[in-house]
Amino acid sequence: MGVLNLKRLPRAAALLLAGLLALSPAALALEPPVPRNYHPERAEAYAAYQQAHPAYSEEQAVTLVNIGLNRPFYTDIADVGEPDALLVLVNKYHRLPSDYVPNDLTTLRYGNGATLRAEAAAAFDDMAAAARRDGVVITGVSGYRSYGLQQSLYSRYSAQDGTAAADRYSARPGHSEHQTGLAIDVSNGGVYTQFGGTAAHSWALKHLHEYGFIIRYTKANEWITGYKDEAWHFRYVGVDAATEIYHLGVTLEEYLDRYVYPTGASTAKGESVTAAQCVLSSGKTTPFHGTQVTAQFSNVLVPVTGTLQWQVDGAAIGAEASFSLANGAVSTLLYLPPGRTHTVSLRLTAPTEEFRVWQAIVPVGGDCALFSGLSGITVLAPVRQAGVWRAPAFAFVGGH
Ligand code: DAL
Ligand code: ZN
Repeated sequence: MGVLNLKRLPRAAALLLAGLLALSPAALALEPPVPRNYHPERAEAYAAYQQAHPAYSEEQAVTLVNIGLNRPFYTDIADVGEPDALLVLVNKYHRLPSDYVPNDLTTLRYGNGATLRAEAAAAFDDMAAAARRDGVVITGVSGYRSYGLQQSLYSRYSAQDGTAAADRYSARPGHSEHQTGLAIDVSNGGVYTQFGGTAAHSWALKHLHEYGFIIRYTKANEWITGYKDEAWHFRYVGVDAATEIYHLGVTLEEYLDRYVYPTGASTAKGESVTAAQCVLSSGKTTPFHGTQVTAQFSNVLVPVTGTLQWQVDGAAIGAEASFSLANGAVSTLLYLPPGRTHTVSLRLTAPTEEFRVWQAIVPVGGDCALFSGLSGITVLAPVRQAGVWRAPAFAFVGGH
């Protein structure tokens, strides 16, 4: 052996070691970047999951634990915070309020009386019309379903087949995407459970994303969703997200964790949060006078305004300043005494609903000289455009 595997060390130790070993910025490349969806408070769960599943990379383990797969389905259930969000996640770990009813349910043209939320209904009818032009029939069978209806369906199925079997094809009340008004079961005019393998299904596999829908449950992803293959269950997420999910070949769960909601809980309107954290493990004793620290934003699709404040070791440095976040950079000169580890954070407060920030750890080790020039760090401020949350890239760059 002789080569230390930094990946297997606890992160703090790995960072420190990277700092001690690092003689040049290139040496820091040994340290794998912290996955941007890494929740520090779940460090033990990630480690345990990786130990139980050694085949997974750290990145995979982080995502799977974030999704909840380190615990059985229907345990530690979270209440859905924003049932009206187009990218709402409803699954065996996320439950809708029993009284949630979408307020814009619209009857479909091609749906035998089924309803969906207005945007999804318009997209569905466009899709169904296009399918017909291409010579196949896709027609709605069951769209929005109330909590009460789902309750009676699930109790009927579980009485009939037993809970374990029913759980593989029917959602428990509050856990069905049908209650969002964004999901619909379809048929090609025949029996909907025989939609798979039809010409209409092949058409859907090719074109659904162009209309903002995804096929939510497949044989390959049952271990993530907990449901058997349902070729007929389409979920509306909007064209941008559907297209990304289609090309990435991921489940909605993975997409939301890895590409949209980098590290979890959103903040309430106007709330302040710590946006980024930079750990410097400086062992240098040579004097220096300060470090220019720059936070670089890219992929910001919708400029937002708010206030920002730098903090060192939890203490505010300077006054709150206003900012308009667009692609670009904000920077400041910070004095960071050498010889110990510091935490540099940038606290952003954005009093709009179009902007949210998540805490993220910037994977920087070493002293301030090595801090210079490192970039490509972490995504953390999703911005909404056309109903889709986007993650702008965020990086700390700069040094002396
Ligand atoms: N059949 C799907 C999983 C539902 O009940 O929502
Ligand atoms: Zn369904």
